[in-house]
Amino acid sequence: MGDRFSIEALLPEDYLDHQLRSDVRAGLTGRPKSVQPKWFYDAAGSRLFERITRLPEYYPTRAEREILTARSGEIAAATGAASLIELGSGSSEKTRILLEALEPDVYIPVDVSRTALEDAAAGLVRAHPDLTVHAVVGDFQHELKLPRSPGPRLLAFLGGTIGNLTPGRRERFLAGLPGLLEPGDSLLVGTDLVKDERTLVAAYDDAQGVTAAFNKNMLRVLNRRLGADFDPERFSHVARWDARREWIEMRLRSDGAQSVRIASLDLEVRFDDGEDLLTETSTKFRREGVAAELERAGFALRRWWTDEAGRFAVSLAELS
Ligand code: AVJ
Repeated sequence: MGDRFSIEALLPEDYLDHQLRSDVRAGLTGRPKSVQPKWFYDAAGSRLFERITRLPEYYPTRAEREILTARSGEIAAATGAASLIELGSGSSEKTRILLEALEPDVYIPVDVSRTALEDAAAGLVRAHPDLTVHAVVGDFQHELKLPRSPGPRLLAFLGGTIGNLTPGRRERFLAGLPGLLEPGDSLLVGTDLVKDERTLVAAYDDAQGVTAAFNKNMLRVLNRRLGADFDPERFSHVARWDARREWIEMRLRSDGAQSVRIASLDLEVRFDDGEDLLTETSTKFRREGVAAELERAGFALRRWWTDEAGRFAVSLAELS
């Protein structure tokens, strides 16, 4: 890949281990018990998520792709972006659509997974002979520093991942973005939208049970990384719509009373029969809410695009 690919680690090697430990200790001793969704994505979890994106019930990935395919030319014209910065880049195909339309000089993918960054970059550098890729191993929820890049910049946060942040975290996250940008730069955000409960719940509780397996994989992650002894067979997958907060919750419900030991934390955790472990909230948005949150963070919403069926939105905003 020569000198067109570089990778920079903002995170010390043991940073994620420390974070996992303190998150899990706080989450399992709090009420309700919870763990943060970012820990879903070990190799097996990432593969299960890829399968989710192809399920008939899971529309967000297809809806966002439909929007990006239809609007990438407009995005390129409106932003004139010379650099594309993508937070939580993972692997994926939405990047390809944007790169082909924008033809930026520089692409800066940011992800907590070094291997995901390395795997994705190899193919991109091959496919785009004039592109320089500066990958950053970093956590978008913690102070992020980006390498210098030519402006104007487009900062993309796609996939609806912003919905995984609870309102307080989301506000802090958005408030930090202007500090990464300069006048004339733009922000592109993908958000899943509020819709009927049946469609939403089906997207998080599919008939084949792939989402259930994805949810239970969290317990395998904790077993492997923290020496815990969760029995995934003794928890069931629950997806429920919280109509007041307008988010989907995924939970793991204890089948029977049980006690789990987390060796690395020297922690014993009791579950009552039917007690839930909250593993993810996935907020669904409305246009007014997105516009208001962006405005509070210092952005002005310029364009709002949805798929034909109105299930998902991509917003383009400018620093105001
Ligand atoms: C990757 C966070 C956008 O919330 O829809 C999919 C993750 N969880 N099925 C989402 C997920 C269960 C997904 N995001």
